[in-house]
Amino acid sequence: MGLTVLLVFGLILNAAMLCNGGVTSLFVRKVEPTKDMPLDSDVFRVPPGYNAPQQVHITQGDHDGKGVIVSWVTPSEPGSNTVLYWTANDKHKYHAEGHVRKYKFYNYTSGFIHHCTLRNLKIDTQYYYEVGIKHTMRQFSFRTPPKVGPDVPYTFGLIGDLGQSFDSNRTLAHYESNPNGQTVLYVGDLSYADNYPFHDNVRWDTWGRFTERSAAYQPWIWTAGNHEIDFVPEIGEKVPFKPYRNRYHTPYRASGSTSSLWYSIKRASAYIIVLSSYSAYGKYTPQYRWLEAELPKVDRKETPWLIVLMHSPWYNSYNYHYMEGETMRVMYEPWFVQYKVDVVFAGHVHAYERSERISNIAYNVVNGQCTPISDQSAPVYITIGDGGNLEGLATNMTEPQPKYSAYREASFGHAIFEIKNRTHAYYTWHRNQDGEAVAADSTWFYNRFWYPLEEPTSAMK
Ligand SMILES: [Fe+2]
Repeated sequence: MGLTVLLVFGLILNAAMLCNGGVTSLFVRKVEPTKDMPLDSDVFRVPPGYNAPQQVHITQGDHDGKGVIVSWVTPSEPGSNTVLYWTANDKHKYHAEGHVRKYKFYNYTSGFIHHCTLRNLKIDTQYYYEVGIKHTMRQFSFRTPPKVGPDVPYTFGLIGDLGQSFDSNRTLAHYESNPNGQTVLYVGDLSYADNYPFHDNVRWDTWGRFTERSAAYQPWIWTAGNHEIDFVPEIGEKVPFKPYRNRYHTPYRASGSTSSLWYSIKRASAYIIVLSSYSAYGKYTPQYRWLEAELPKVDRKETPWLIVLMHSPWYNSYNYHYMEGETMRVMYEPWFVQYKVDVVFAGHVHAYERSERISNIAYNVVNGQCTPISDQSAPVYITIGDGGNLEGLATNMTEPQPKYSAYREASFGHAIFEIKNRTHAYYTWHRNQDGEAVAADSTWFYNRFWYPLEEPTSAMK
């Protein structure tokens, strides 16, 4: 009898060790439905005055951070394409002229969508800007980043799969309560308008008004997700990404890209590459050829931190979208290891997960070597698709937790990536239920080019 108990105990112990991945958080979120905010919510308020500009948002407008694209919508008529902008030291306002466009989607017709690029701005400077005319003119501000260089501290916020539910509002408010975030790296799936009948594009407008309170004041760097595809041939909508590409511009030409869906920017000490999980990425495709030419251009002596954004994660141990990113991983992972990408941020899975530094590039069809291994040249993979959209949380995880998974938790939240200098960055993940000062997950990142040591939090040997 005693021997049997010992044997069983031994087996359990052994199983626990075999299952020794990282941490599956014990935090249990109160189960409640995730509902979209109604159309008359205050966060969707239309600014007062006839044809007043709304849905104002900015993003980087060139390759090195001296440009800003300002975008806004006027609902009733084109109005003005002009952006007035100035600094506190300027005696007069500068002006830039943009373009206006509109689009139809089934039975919806958009407002007048304006995009205007401000160029050759002073570095590290507070700018004020105005859009609209006369009594409906609206004023906002932003700060340009410091000059690109290897030891420039800079803090990025990470948000994904935000949507426009009550939880989305909590996530955005939580991020806003952190005074340090300077730019949002957005990993795709914006409005979730496509969950409404006929992809009701009114929900693209409400999302634009909802996010204006942050996106008009600091750049959001856009990544396209599956909810941006809006491909509905049964109602005549056969052009993928139509609403997204009309509303959200990116500076893709500045990095030699031929599509706004994949591009790169330099910002402070970071080089950020944005990829499209839902555009062709196989060999010889435009995205493949661009990325192949792009990676060798990254000068880590100028921008030590190499960050990649995509929507569909390559490593994800939830039972949602499992292995959806696998084919892109097979195509591009050897490059990420070769060029020592520091970190890859993805969304899509509505939960949080951080991986160890791992790679899985040895497999050649016949050698059977198809298991992720510890690799100090490889990136850390972070899934941050926990913005809070109406589809709710991904709570079902693969068991046991794989060894490559360092931390996972099914809660809504956002993250902060705080670059200190060329060697160190501090990363924190903040679940919505906590105060901003609380980090539910945190780790130091050591730069792969300048300080390629194993980080102290690594548990995978
Ligand atoms: Fe998605």
